[in-house]
Amino acid sequence: MNVQRTALVTGANKGIGLETARQLGRASMTVLIGARDEERGARAAAALRREGIDARFIALDVTDAASVAEAHRTIERDLGRLDVLVNNAGILLGRSTPSATRLDEVRHVFEVNVFAAIAVTNAMLPLLRRASPAARIVMVSSGLGGLANHGDPAWEYASFNAIAYPASKAALNMVTVQYAKELAPTGIKVNAADPGYTATDLNGHRGTQTVEEGARASVRLALLDDAGPTGGFFDARGPVPW
Ligand SMILES: NC(=O)c1ccc[n+]([C@@H]2O[C@H](COP(=O)([O-])OP(=O)(O)OC[C@H]3O[C@@H](n4cnc5c(N)ncnc54)[C@H](OP(=O)(O)O)[C@@H]3O)[C@@H](O)[C@H]2O)c1
Repeated sequence: MNVQRTALVTGANKGIGLETARQLGRASMTVLIGARDEERGARAAAALRREGIDARFIALDVTDAASVAEAHRTIERDLGRLDVLVNNAGILLGRSTPSATRLDEVRHVFEVNVFAAIAVTNAMLPLLRRASPAARIVMVSSGLGGLANHGDPAWEYASFNAIAYPASKAALNMVTVQYAKELAPTGIKVNAADPGYTATDLNGHRGTQTVEEGARASVRLALLDDAGPTGGFFDARGPVPW
C-alpha cells in the first residue's frame, strides 16, 4: 500500500521554512504549513498549491500551549499520524554584548528557539511514533550555536558576540542529542540542521545564500533513509562541529 507521507514545518509562512515545505512537497510529501498568522500561513499554503504541492495551512503559534494542543488535535483528526517534523520557527533578537544583555530578551529567544521546539516535539510525538517507516525530526539550529565556531578566532562570524541567539541554538543542539538518545530504539531519527547564512527577514536579507540553499540541510535530514545518522549536526554538505 502506498501511504501518503506528511511533514509539519513550523514557521513555514516565509523564509527557510516555506522553502523547506516547498522542497518536501516536491519530494511528494503532503506539507502542513505551520504559521501563527492565519492570513500569512494560508497565503503561503495557497502559493505552494498553485505549484502543484499538497500544502495545507495549520494554525500554530509554537509558544502558545493551546495553539500547539489544537494543532495536534487537528492532525490527529485529519491524518492520524505524522512522518516528519521540522522545528524551524525561530527568532534572532538581542545582539548586545554579553555584559549588556537583557534577561527578558534571552528569555524571549529561548521561548521560541528552545522551549517551543520541546513543546511541539512532545505534542507531536504520539503522531510521529505511528509513522512507518520511522519518523524524522529536524531541529533547525545555526552555526552561531556552534561552541567550536565561537572558540575559533578565524571563524568568519567570530565577531558575533552576543548571548541570546547563540546560546539558544547551542541549547537546541543539546535538546537534539537528548531526543535522539531516547528515540533511537524506535528508529525515529533526530538531527540538528545548520542552514548557513541565508537571505531572509531574520537578517534583513543580508545572508549570502538563497533560501533554496538554506533549506537543503533540513530537507536532507527530513528525508534520511534507515541507514542515516541520528543525534548529529549537519549543514547541506555533511557533519559540522557542535
Ligand atoms: N537566515 C539565516 O541565515 C539562518 C541561519 C541559521 C539558522 N537559521 C534558522 O532558520 C530558521 C528559519 O529562519 P529564517 O531565516 O527563515 O527566518 P524568517 O524568515 O524570519 O522566518 C522565521 C519563521 O519563524 C516564524 N515564527 C517566529 N516565531 C514564531 C512563533 N511563536 N510561532 C510560530 N512561528 C513563529 C515566523 O513567523 P512570522 O512570519 O509570523 O513572524 C517565520 O515564519 C530559524 O530557526 C533560524 O534561527 C536561519
